[in-house]
Amino acid sequence: MKIAVGADHGGFQHKEAIKTFLEEKGFDITDMGTYSLNSVDYNDFAKKVAEGVRDGAFDRGILVCGTGVGMSIMANKVKGIRAALVHDVFTAEATRLHNNSNILTMGGRVIGEDLALKIVDVWVNTEFSEVNRHQRRVNKIDTYQEG
Ligand code: RB5
Repeated sequence: MKIAVGADHGGFQHKEAIKTFLEEKGFDITDMGTYSLNSVDYNDFAKKVAEGVRDGAFDRGILVCGTGVGMSIMANKVKGIRAALVHDVFTAEATRLHNNSNILTMGGRVIGEDLALKIVDVWVNTEFSEVNRHQRRVNKIDTYQEG
């Protein structure tokens, strides 16, 4: 699975830990920045990762900012992106099963590194359930976006 990771300064440290964690598990990781704790705009990293997922360069994306909110709002502006803001393990599993989320966002100032890694582990290893009612609901998102 090809996964793009991105962060602003508020998520930089968690992003580094996530990258190492996933690389050690054999995932193909592309780090789209940021590469330091210097202040940057979350928008730029959400855009890069979300457009990469939209274009098929990556199967999924993971974005971390201070709260995860800015990343989720920005990523969800990109067509075909279903970004889920997650801070617990139950939602990590549910948003894959029910929403087929293709981007995970988290807040580096909200949860600790251990919980973030557990969420990532569950999220990358859970497949969409594809039962009819969930597929129908995801289709309604696409239909709405098409206008
Ligand atoms: C940066 O200070 C902070 O606003 C950002 O990381 C994020 O939390 C925005 O939603």
